[in-house]
Amino acid sequence: MTLGRPKVLITEEAIRARISELARKISGDYAHAEELLLVGILKGSFVFLADLSRRLAVPATVDFMALQTYGRESVPGEEVRLLMDTRSDISGKHVLVVEDIVDTGKTLRYLLPLLASRGPASLRTCAMLRKPARISGEVHIDYVGFDVPDVWVVGYGLDRADRYRALPYIGSVSP
Ligand code: XMP
Ligand code: MG
Repeated sequence: MTLGRPKVLITEEAIRARISELARKISGDYAHAEELLLVGILKGSFVFLADLSRRLAVPATVDFMALQTYGRESVPGEEVRLLMDTRSDISGKHVLVVEDIVDTGKTLRYLLPLLASRGPASLRTCAMLRKPARISGEVHIDYVGFDVPDVWVVGYGLDRADRYRALPYIGSVSP
């Protein structure tokens, strides 16, 4: 398979600057909290989580979950599947879910009620990217890095068929 070079949408410098802003905002909002638990959604969030976590002024612990979203072939009521749960107990913790991209919002609509049922002290969401044209229904995101158009984006953790995750910028590839 030959893979073209992605077209740059968001440069490395722009990502760095935006993450600093997000980290400042999040650090202020959680200044009262003793500790924050960052829950990264694998695989796509790993680069964003690494950079964001190192800029926070509040002490943070890190955990991960892995989810699988089905496309058109999905069975009703089983559109999202939990592949890996957190290792730590989230009850009583200030939980911030860290997502790579919110597309339709299906993943968060599945995940947030599940996490809320476990009794965290607070529960918020942070997404590096959001595709406003694709979001369907109600989905609340507390912190958003960038809005992107309805194109397939790769790089900075995001993939197409597991390629491009290590690119330092966010780019688009033709479908
Ligand atoms: P939603 O919000 O629809 O998002 O539940 C499900 C997951 O789909 C992935 N996704 C993308 N991954 N480039 C990617 O690399 C994209 O443009 C893209 N759009 C959606 C992502 O894993 C998200 O969590
Ligand atoms: Mg993915």
